[in-house]
Amino acid sequence: MGLHSQAAIGVILGGVVTLAPGIGGWLRALAPRRATAARPPRAEGKQRQSRARCGMLAPGADARLEEATVIRRVLLSLSRSEQARDVVAAAPISRSVVKRFIAGESAADAVLTTADLIGSGRLVTIDHLGEDVTELGQAEATRDAYVTLLGLLDEAGLTQGAEVSVKLSAVGQALPGDGEKIALDHAREICQAADAAGTTVTLDMEDHTTTDSTLGILRELRADFPQTGAVLQAYLYRTEADCLDLAHAGSRVRLCKGAYKEPPAVAFQDKADVDKAYVRCLKVLMAGEGYPMVASHDPRLIDIAGALAVRHDRAKGTYEYQMLHGVRPDEQRRLAADGEKMRVYVPYGDDWWGYMVRRMAEKPANLALFLKSLSSTS
Ligand code: FDA
Repeated sequence: MGLHSQAAIGVILGGVVTLAPGIGGWLRALAPRRATAARPPRAEGKQRQSRARCGMLAPGADARLEEATVIRRVLLSLSRSEQARDVVAAAPISRSVVKRFIAGESAADAVLTTADLIGSGRLVTIDHLGEDVTELGQAEATRDAYVTLLGLLDEAGLTQGAEVSVKLSAVGQALPGDGEKIALDHAREICQAADAAGTTVTLDMEDHTTTDSTLGILRELRADFPQTGAVLQAYLYRTEADCLDLAHAGSRVRLCKGAYKEPPAVAFQDKADVDKAYVRCLKVLMAGEGYPMVASHDPRLIDIAGALAVRHDRAKGTYEYQMLHGVRPDEQRRLAADGEKMRVYVPYGDDWWGYMVRRMAEKPANLALFLKSLSSTS
């Protein structure tokens, strides 16, 4: 194992243990050598759900749920830690992580993965990894990366099935002074390149301090590029109202649960409350005139989305499902085979820290997989 990889594992485990002492048992269960012994995630989730519904959580299950929540919060803190990012991002991405969640480091890798997914009947949205840039040059480089990528997709004849997802913080939103204007200008150039290539852009949503700014930039972009997609996060209290605002004809809205660490003042903390909020938001979007994009791997929410589409006489193709690259690929293929529009979110690039840590926070099994891949030499 290289020095960078050892440092990376040290930062992740050290961060978890320092910030959340008393979870040694849980971490032992996540240790890389045990990863393959884990029960299949779906069966485990189902068993826990049905026990919980009957009020029969197994002894220790409450404690484990509590620990999972603590680990999630700690990992989400680490995802915004510059110090942790600097150490871990220096580790070369090991092949198994690349294969599972990230298309690769180059635009060519992203194009190859996209061609493969489109060949299997799925659609794609591509994310150039990176966020929270602190220098204008980085923001310009991100814009250029998207413009180059869109040219390559066009050349490869893939723009019918592939669009791009853009984080405004990666194109300058957080720069001091006129960061918002810089992000708008860069996003506009990406929208122009997408339009010229025959495709669209969706603006990812980041933490709640950026929501108003992002929706403001969305409005400006939609004046020239009405097909620009929005993302709304069900965990924010404000989102049901935002769904009502954005559920108009031609409006593409991706609904996700939300992946950042948010305070109780602005967001539901309890998973069950987030799920209920997701359903309320989905009802608004499915009943509206816009184009809902159901971004979730949650089997219950996928079933509910399908039932709501039927209730509102929506034909297949007037809404779509979206999932992350590497997560529930069989379900992705099943939905596509059923004639549903199924879009896969494909990240590429070398700045994978924030993205990977949010995936680990969502699913402990991903943390085990990640630690295992960092410690493996293959
Ligand atoms: P959740 O993580 O609660 O999982 C629910 C259930 O789904 C699990 O119990 C399990 O059954 C199944 N499941 C989940 N992960 C699994 C896995 N790895 N393997 C097997 N089963 C699994 N967030 C954000 O804040 N801003 C954004 O712009 C975006 N953009 C975005 C785009 C797309 C296309 C997606 C799919 C997601 C995002 N997100 C996001 C992330 C989103 O907010 C959320 O954090 C993740 O999608 C995880 O939430 P789920 O809805 O999948 O459910």
